[in-house]
Amino acid sequence: MGVTTVTDVRQTVPSPDASTEGVLATLFRSEQGGHEQVVLCQDRASGLKAVIALHSTALGPALGGTRFHAYASDEEAVQDALDLARGMSYKNALAGLDLGGGKAVIIGDPDTLKSEQLLLAYGRFVASLGGRYVTACDVGTYVADMDVVARENRWTTGRSPEQGGAGDSSVLTAFGVFQGMRAAARASWGEPTLRGRRVGVAGVGKVGHHLVEHLVEDGAEVVVTDVRADAVSRITSRHPQVTAVENAEVLVRSPLDVYAPCALGHALDDATVAALTARVVCGAANNQLAHPGVEKDLADRGVLYAPDYVVNAGGVIQVADELAGFDFDRAKAKATRIYDTTLAIFERAATDGVPPAVAADRLAEQRMADRTPASEWLRPAAS
Ligand SMILES: NC(=O)c1ccc[n+]([C@@H]2O[C@H](COP(=O)([O-])OP(=O)(O)OC[C@H]3O[C@@H](n4cnc5c(N)ncnc54)[C@H](O)[C@@H]3O)[C@@H](O)[C@H]2O)c1
Repeated sequence: MGVTTVTDVRQTVPSPDASTEGVLATLFRSEQGGHEQVVLCQDRASGLKAVIALHSTALGPALGGTRFHAYASDEEAVQDALDLARGMSYKNALAGLDLGGGKAVIIGDPDTLKSEQLLLAYGRFVASLGGRYVTACDVGTYVADMDVVARENRWTTGRSPEQGGAGDSSVLTAFGVFQGMRAAARASWGEPTLRGRRVGVAGVGKVGHHLVEHLVEDGAEVVVTDVRADAVSRITSRHPQVTAVENAEVLVRSPLDVYAPCALGHALDDATVAALTARVVCGAANNQLAHPGVEKDLADRGVLYAPDYVVNAGGVIQVADELAGFDFDRAKAKATRIYDTTLAIFERAATDGVPPAVAADRLAEQRMADRTPASEWLRPAAS
């Protein structure tokens, strides 16, 4: 078992091809790169091949999940780790955590490659970083996997409650999205409530169905859609006043005040933005903007977009709390501050004359550059 940083890659790969050169360019030369460290991990006995990318530890140890995926090439895996790690730096900065951003990818099909031996080997690589990297679940890894990884180090979160972890993160993710939506309501209509507003939720899975509970309790008129009939009936049987429509296309075209994408990424493409009736977009789904420029199209159409990585940070706030011994109330108090952060982003957007997605990135970059501790960052605004 050995740890190789990317600075060694040129020695281990005799003649780098164009794609390897592309990855290295991202790491060393791209203005948007600037990763601190990238670790290539290999354990021949278990078949583990992994990449751990640390984008920034300016605010603390780099926290980000472990993705287990069958990449088309090793270069693609490195690129994904770099991109995801960078995203975590921004997310953790705006989540008000004293944590930097990192991410790991394990290369291969989790259905065939995943084993206890492999997860333990991976856990030893996490241990070898001595706390610079803190891991968690991501696509292809689960709470039970993190319990195994944690046997080899002290820097694994996303564990089961039986193992001192926080368990299902969707409760606080939904709570955080609701806080972001309250902030958007205040910015749009003057009051931090969804009472009397018509809110469309696309995707009522783990996060979406908790979000509906908050909205119903707040007095919103809720319309939902999901490709799974059982997910919809779980909501409508509990809340008969909630209505359902056939699909997301129908939902976005129906009269809405707020649209909440809570299913898959790229929910906001050109056709959706053109058809939107809602004045506010605020949902849990990751990577909602289908391509660069959508944030400007939304702003040009007078739609207030609450950046996805800001409002869906409740989950990362929850796993981060495990490092201090999980306390639900403490984590919930931190997730409540998503309200203040979202308002601060809207204010910065108005001051700078840029869309909220751009303002969010600027605020995150500012906090990282200033190394502002969470205790001194964004004093709560009056709600
Ligand atoms: N779970 C978390 O803590 C968390 C944290 C941050 C971000 N997110 C993001 O939030 C989103 C939802 O996460 P989740 O944990 O609730 O996932 P989930 O799989 O439990 O729920 C997603 C739901 O969307 C539905 N769906 C899929 N395609 C659809 C479509 N085209 N139209 C309508 N519905 C569709 C699915 O049937 C499912 O019910 C994902 O993008 C996820 O990455 C989740």
